[in-house]
Amino acid sequence: MTFSKILIRNAKVVNDNQIFDFDLLINGNRIEKIATKIKSSSEMKVFDAEGKYIIPGLIDDQVHFREPGLTYKACIESESKAALAGGITSFLEMPNTEPQTTTKIEWEEKNKKASTTSYANYAFMFGGTNDNLDEILALDTKRVPAVKLFLGSSTGNMLVDNPEVLKSIFNSTKLVIAVHCEDEHTIQRNLKAAQQKYGNEIPISEHPNIRSEEACYLSSSKAVALAKETGARLHVFHVSTARELELFRNDIPFEEKKITAEVCTHHLWFSSDDYLEKGTLIKWNPAVKTKADRAALWDGLNTDLLDVLATDHAPHTELDKNQSYINAPSGGPLVQHALPALLTAFHKGKITLEKIVQKACHNPAILFDVKDRGFLREGYFADLVVIDIDKTFEVVKDDLLYKCGWSPFEGTQFRGVVERTLLNGKWVYKDGIVHSDSAAMELTFDRT
Ligand code: DOR
Repeated sequence: MTFSKILIRNAKVVNDNQIFDFDLLINGNRIEKIATKIKSSSEMKVFDAEGKYIIPGLIDDQVHFREPGLTYKACIESESKAALAGGITSFLEMPNTEPQTTTKIEWEEKNKKASTTSYANYAFMFGGTNDNLDEILALDTKRVPAVKLFLGSSTGNMLVDNPEVLKSIFNSTKLVIAVHCEDEHTIQRNLKAAQQKYGNEIPISEHPNIRSEEACYLSSSKAVALAKETGARLHVFHVSTARELELFRNDIPFEEKKITAEVCTHHLWFSSDDYLEKGTLIKWNPAVKTKADRAALWDGLNTDLLDVLATDHAPHTELDKNQSYINAPSGGPLVQHALPALLTAFHKGKITLEKIVQKACHNPAILFDVKDRGFLREGYFADLVVIDIDKTFEVVKDDLLYKCGWSPFEGTQFRGVVERTLLNGKWVYKDGIVHSDSAAMELTFDRT
């Protein structure tokens, strides 16, 4: 028997800052109807979601899937599967691959690759450099979500450090400018001081002193000042300190903000106390900071100073990560467990389900003008996640879908499980398995 529609019954639907008991009717790749009671018919395959929560698929605005060039760490296929298992149905991928995504040709190549290998909906950010303004201005704004600028060095050597160039980019593009903010001069000064003190044996606990609060603040405040001066649409990635919160506003609606900010799961979960146990596995740029910073980030998220929840999923091999502080690269895999971590935080009273949905689903859709996604609405694409809110599980190596085969959460108990994921109207993940019939689509952006 083949069914042309899916009827999801008795779901607790979290959407638009509310939780309601609803049925959802899926027709093709779109949501046809959302109502308190929908009558079933023979063309409908019924899924009873009694006791389960349903949220829109997450839109992760910052992932590094390493393809092309770094596919020994990860690739679009492996990481997009892991994303679906983590309830992330759409991702915006970063340009620090090899080659870098800093020309139209490379950008097209990535899209082409994703069109045949991605399991989740995809779009690729374009990397700004000291000399590609012409390319930036020629971008198709309906297909490119944003321009990414590294205002601090990180994996991939993409630092944009020419102030004239920065000003020209901020002055001329209408696209969102998404920035990695850490002041290079401050980092290098702190690194030199640490090297003088420890020689080649710098302990990982020095990481937040080297990539310090000051480094973050100097760089973020410069970017914010430049955006105010030029009127650019700025989005500050992975805010990691309490002090940076003073740069952002919560006295105007999100839709009206021209300067927005993101916070990532690892900065909300870990603190500098964890370096002792986790070592270089939790080396990130920007660094995980103090417990006080972490508490301020939760507060900033809940009071709307911080607008978007993302992962900055950035896999490296375990071998690479387990090197000395200086040699270990920064970053780690997160897409499979970011949502369970947030659900666990919900159980601890740190955030509501409505807030998770607002920051991880609605706001990225609004910020980047993602067409017809990010909300559960009639006529929108049917991307959604079924959650068993009370089920617990431990993160174990065997269950990891990442190509790199490790997770900073190994051994962690989470409460809240992604039971199923529906992508463009198809069940693409259930019972721990990602199904092979790819339903993924390229994201498009509703811009004039
Ligand atoms: O820790 C990080 N790793 N931060 C970044 O900004 C880049 C990322 C990577 O690509 O490895």
